[in-house]
Amino acid sequence: MEVLRLEDYKNLGFNVRDTFGNYISYYKDGKWDEGKIQKEDTITISAFSTALHYGQQAFEGLKAYRTKDGKINLFRVDENAKRLQNSCDQILMPKVPTEKFIDAIKQVVKVNEELVPPYGYGASLYIRPYVIGVGRNLGVKAAPEYIFGVLCSPVGSYFKGGLSPVNFVVTDRDRAAPNGTGQVKVGGNYAASLYSHRQAKEAGYADCIYLDPLTHTKIDEVGAANFFAVTKDMTFVTPSSSSILPSITKKSLMHIAKEYLNMNVEVRDVYINNLDEFSEAGACGTAAAITPIGRIDYHNQQHVFYSETEVGPVTRKLYDTLTGIYFGDIKAPEGWITQL
Ligand code: PLP
Ligand code: COI
Repeated sequence: MEVLRLEDYKNLGFNVRDTFGNYISYYKDGKWDEGKIQKEDTITISAFSTALHYGQQAFEGLKAYRTKDGKINLFRVDENAKRLQNSCDQILMPKVPTEKFIDAIKQVVKVNEELVPPYGYGASLYIRPYVIGVGRNLGVKAAPEYIFGVLCSPVGSYFKGGLSPVNFVVTDRDRAAPNGTGQVKVGGNYAASLYSHRQAKEAGYADCIYLDPLTHTKIDEVGAANFFAVTKDMTFVTPSSSSILPSITKKSLMHIAKEYLNMNVEVRDVYINNLDEFSEAGACGTAAAITPIGRIDYHNQQHVFYSETEVGPVTRKLYDTLTGIYFGDIKAPEGWITQL
């Protein structure tokens, strides 16, 4: 087992690290078993499993944060439970009841308590619940059996630089269809994103930006994160779209913008040819937290928001409030934090 020194927590990146165990539960004959913690992060399944051939699988992502007084905070875990239920519903998998979901996450965090990074390093324990269709199956149909599991790993920033601005390029490819599975967290959307992600990375960008798949005129998402921007008159704007994942971070930022920062909030179209209306922009998500967007390149145009090197004042306030809530330094709205 790899031992992390305090120094290591500053540069964890977003990688798999050794842990003390993960959770696994099987669904057979129409019901979930009790589930248990296992040591190895391996599973044995039939190679005929629908998860492997037809992408019948869904996952979630959330984090556990260490507070100043050494406690552990889970952020809006009930929202992840709900979203996983919706994902399961959309691809014909049995739902994991909310209590089972939360209990599994608590068990995993408990067994890996020592791996929740210390307060003050900007790091956290990333938690990865998943549901996969398993069992022997050949035709395109729902699997006979399922596994619900929860993995974890201590992580730092998803995009290099933490709160430093990074640049993105608009891709001509789509990750999801207008009436497809963009709104749920299923593996197919991520397989569809690998090619454009690599193209963007190879061209020196942090990731790519997807436009709406129907008209290719409006911003949809920023890689594996949602997009937000701030207008010159302090309105928090985020795209309205049927093909993006409903981000829990975005939903939380909308509340923070309105209730903590006294801003207006608008969910509406964000035209790629009208970025001048914004003074700041960013990517938001569990893994990304808030990542300021320095510049967006689109065909031959380059658009710089606040700065390519400095974070804008509103983005910083949003970041400080959100992370203050995560780490227990700022009072959270009722029900947002589950303490272990
Ligand atoms: N969009 C995509 C495609 C994602 O994978 C994620 C990550 O979960 C998000 C947005 C952000 O969602 P959340 O804030 O719930 O983590
Ligand atoms: C998250 O933010 O939790 C994600 O799932 C993003 C990515 C690592 C898939």
